[in-house]
Parts: sequence; structure tokens; C-alpha cells
Amino acid sequence: MELRSIENANFSDARVLVRTDFNIERTRLGEIEEHFRLEIVKKTIDHILSYENVKVALLTHLGRPEGKMSEEFSVKSLVPALQAALGREVVFVPTCVGEEVEKALETLPPGSVLLLENVRFFPGEEADDRSFAEALAKPFTAYVNEAFSVCHRAHASVSALPKMLPSYAGFRLLQEIDELDRVRFSPAHPAVAVIGGAKIETKLPLIHAFEKNYDCILVGGKVANEAIDQKIPFGEKVLLPQDFAEGRLDIGPNTIAYYSQILKMAKTIIWNGPLGKFEEKPYNMGTDAILSAILETDAYVVIGGGESLAVVERANVMNKIGFVSSGGGAMLDYLSGASLPGLEALKTS
Ligand code: 3PG
Repeated sequence: MELRSIENANFSDARVLVRTDFNIERTRLGEIEEHFRLEIVKKTIDHILSYENVKVALLTHLGRPEGKMSEEFSVKSLVPALQAALGREVVFVPTCVGEEVEKALETLPPGSVLLLENVRFFPGEEADDRSFAEALAKPFTAYVNEAFSVCHRAHASVSALPKMLPSYAGFRLLQEIDELDRVRFSPAHPAVAVIGGAKIETKLPLIHAFEKNYDCILVGGKVANEAIDQKIPFGEKVLLPQDFAEGRLDIGPNTIAYYSQILKMAKTIIWNGPLGKFEEKPYNMGTDAILSAILETDAYVVIGGGESLAVVERANVMNKIGFVSSGGGAMLDYLSGASLPGLEALKTS
């Protein structure tokens, strides 16, 4: 897929709005649990700020505040962690539209960035409202999408807004597309997909897409239970668990052994979703065993989805994974062949 690349833009004297996705897990005390989505935007921010007289504002959503302001979902709480991730001063603006944004841009010290308030505090965002997108665009002269993980949402800051300004895909977004295209269209064989997590209806298109050019699809987690209960028919490449742990909360020992054997031969592995209720011991055993089996191979490994990411972060093996996608729903949709509104808006033709 050809997207307008940030490398072809000239940001001298520009006012650049960067759509990021800092929709990240926080503890009950508001501490940030996951820094990955903050860190992956650094290259793009540094690149834009290498131009003369440029000003940058970052825009994100956080949670699902349903079009209303709420302290719980204010992005102000992200400022310290974001400053650490970017190595720059971050100036928070308590709105994302209007004069306050224009004034903050004018007074922004060189080398610093603005962080605008949660875009989902405005109902126009999720409604993909044109006049809201115009209000977002008004203070800016260019737009960069560095938020692959929200590209599947037809929201104003993702879909309508990039059509109103010269708009580009950021480095990380381009890398996501390259990596996912590689494992989707030209995987080294044998290619094995491991699909877990919940909501079979969201995973079925993905399973069917992999049936076309993957050698084997190993299914576990809640989706396996749902598929069995609903008696969903699959082709011979799709394997369901042979046994379960107590209460069907995890895959059983025979399945772990069988799946591990298949993974051993793989040259490409793509993994989305845990294979059991991994957050509750001992139902983490299946997921942990499959992760170990994956790490023992010399396959090119791509993982995605918030829960798979949590498993890999907890095991402290992020650096052993070929590529970690920032996308959950966006990765599923992209690999299933769906069209993503955020990407459509950035296509070269
Ligand atoms: C994500 O975390 O996957 C994205 O930010 C999308 O969030 P949403 O499901 O609330 O739209």
C-alpha cells in the first residue's frame, strides 16, 4: 500500500498536528503501565522538529469518555511519561480546538511540543464530524498520522481531518504497514498464525484470511471455546485445542505439546491474543508455554494486540520479537484485508 510519506514533506515554517495514539493502560493510581505507544512516536517528532521554525502539537484519545470532559480521561496525566519518552518539554493544552491552541502554538518554546486534550471529549470526533475536523485543522498547516492503532476508526481526527491539510504517514505508521504487508502477503513458509483472546466474531475474518496463505492456524483462548460451542466449521489448516485446563480457562497439556511441535518448524509466526485467562494463575501456563515455544524457533515473529503485548512485556522478551505491532483492532482489520479509514485518507492515489 502506497501512503504519502513524511519523508516527502518539507516542514520548514509549518504548524504540524501529529495524530498519535496514547490510549494506554494506567493503574488505579493513574500510573502508566505501558510506555510503548509513547516511545514509538519519537523518531517522527525528532524529524519534524529538525526543520526551521516549525511548531508541533500532538493529538490523541484516551479511553472512551463518550464525548464528555472528565478528569479520569484527561491526557494531562501522560505529560511526565511523555516528556521522558520524547526527551523534550511537553506543554499541555486543556482543549484541542480554538484560540487557546493557537496561542499555545505561538508561545511554544523551540524544541518543545504541545499535547492537546483528549479529542474524544468532543462528540464530533467519533461522529467524524466535518465542522469539528475543520476546527481541529484551523491552527495547522500540515498533518501527520503516527497512530496506526486507531486507523480502523472513521473518526474526525483520523478520517476527515487529513483530507483538509497536506497530510503524511509517520515513520512508525509506514513501518507497521511494511511489516504487516510482509507477513500477510509473502511470509516465509511454514507460516503459522496463533490466534487467541476473546470475541470469535472479530477473529473469524482473520482466521479465514490466514487460511488462504498460511500453513497452519492454531486457535486457543476464549475464541476457541466460542468456536467449539458455536460449532463453527473450519478448513483443515485450522486447529482447535484437543484438551483444556479446568473450567476451559486455558489450553491443556496435550494441546501445548501439539501446538509447540508445530511451531518448532515455523519460519513465520504471527500471534494475536492469549491462549487462556493468562492474568490469573495457573491459567497463564498455556500462554507462557506457547511464548517459550515461539521464542525457541528461528522464525520471524510478529505480535500484536494489547494482551499479547502485555504477555511479552511481562516476560521481558520484547527485544526477542521480530516486530511488535502497536495495533490491536487495527492490526486485526488490516490483516483481514479490511479497508482502514485512516489509511485511505493517506493513500497516494
Ligand atoms: C486501541 O487502543 O486499540 C485504539 O486506541 C483504539 O481504541 P478504541 O477501541 O477505543 O477505538
